[in-house]
Amino acid sequence: MGLLDTQVALVTGAGGGIGRATAQLLAREGAAVVCADRNAGTAARTAQALHEGGFPALAVEADITDEAAVEAMVSAAVSAFGRLDVLVNNAGGSSRRDVDVVSMDAGVWDRTMQLNSRGPMLCCKHALPHLLAQGAGAIVNISSGAATAGQLSMPAYAAAKSAVLALTRAIATLHGREGIRCNAITPGLILHENLAPHYPAEHVRIDAANILSPRPGTAEDIANAVLFLVSSMSAFVNGHVLPVDGGLFAHTPTYAQTLELGLESLRLRD
Ligand SMILES: NC(=O)c1ccc[n+]([C@@H]2O[C@H](COP(=O)([O-])OP(=O)(O)OC[C@H]3O[C@@H](n4cnc5c(N)ncnc54)[C@H](O)[C@@H]3O)[C@@H](O)[C@H]2O)c1
Repeated sequence: MGLLDTQVALVTGAGGGIGRATAQLLAREGAAVVCADRNAGTAARTAQALHEGGFPALAVEADITDEAAVEAMVSAAVSAFGRLDVLVNNAGGSSRRDVDVVSMDAGVWDRTMQLNSRGPMLCCKHALPHLLAQGAGAIVNISSGAATAGQLSMPAYAAAKSAVLALTRAIATLHGREGIRCNAITPGLILHENLAPHYPAEHVRIDAANILSPRPGTAEDIANAVLFLVSSMSAFVNGHVLPVDGGLFAHTPTYAQTLELGLESLRLRD
């Protein structure tokens, strides 16, 4: 018995990273998984791997910023499997040109908002009628730790991921009484196969110095949290944000420097 037996889950951005790990875990827990991605080839690879494992899956090419494509994606899911129970709004990302506000190109701002805020809203818009019709459903929006506190880069990404947190609460509030749960996850740094080769080593070190966990986060850590939030294990959790960040935001900003100084330095002198 899996936690999601008989259910149908749609995962956007399922072609790699966190989305692929999530698709794999939801499938192992019994869901038929619709693997959507704007990259048809990677979506097909994820679905193929699920088929090879004996799991029902469907690959769909869809750009979540294109409303007609989103509508077609949801229709394809329902046509293939007859229902929809779970939506994981995972597709997202940032631009290298999202550096600061003074030099912000308004086009970069708009595209970042389109991908990380408008896209998840469109997916909710077209998935919700199916969830509402059956009086049950779970949505998980993958936001980011960038929505939690000010950072020295990516202001557009932070704003877009913050908007998704507001959208999460709005959907939970609008539709909770109709059986819909909508929660969000704010991941910390997750260096999976797509990101690790490009991520600057010195920033990996800074992250390691500031998280409380003794190891870096993995795509599977986020997938596990998604599974919790879409399964009956979290039946009484609605409209909330779950940080999955190794404790990055659980401590004072002076944590890393204090550790470096040594705990002895905290002793008050006579
Ligand atoms: N990796 C991290 O450290 C981290 C941290 C915080 C939040 N996040 C968020 O988690 C989510 C997944 O991140 P990831 O690191 O796995 O990203 P990734 O770039 O490895 O994968 C994202 C997937 O989404 C797809 N995609 C991109 N734009 C799309 C679009 N318009 N329509 C459909 N598919 C699209 C890509 O093709 C890719 O397969 C994103 O929303 C990201 O912002 C990631």
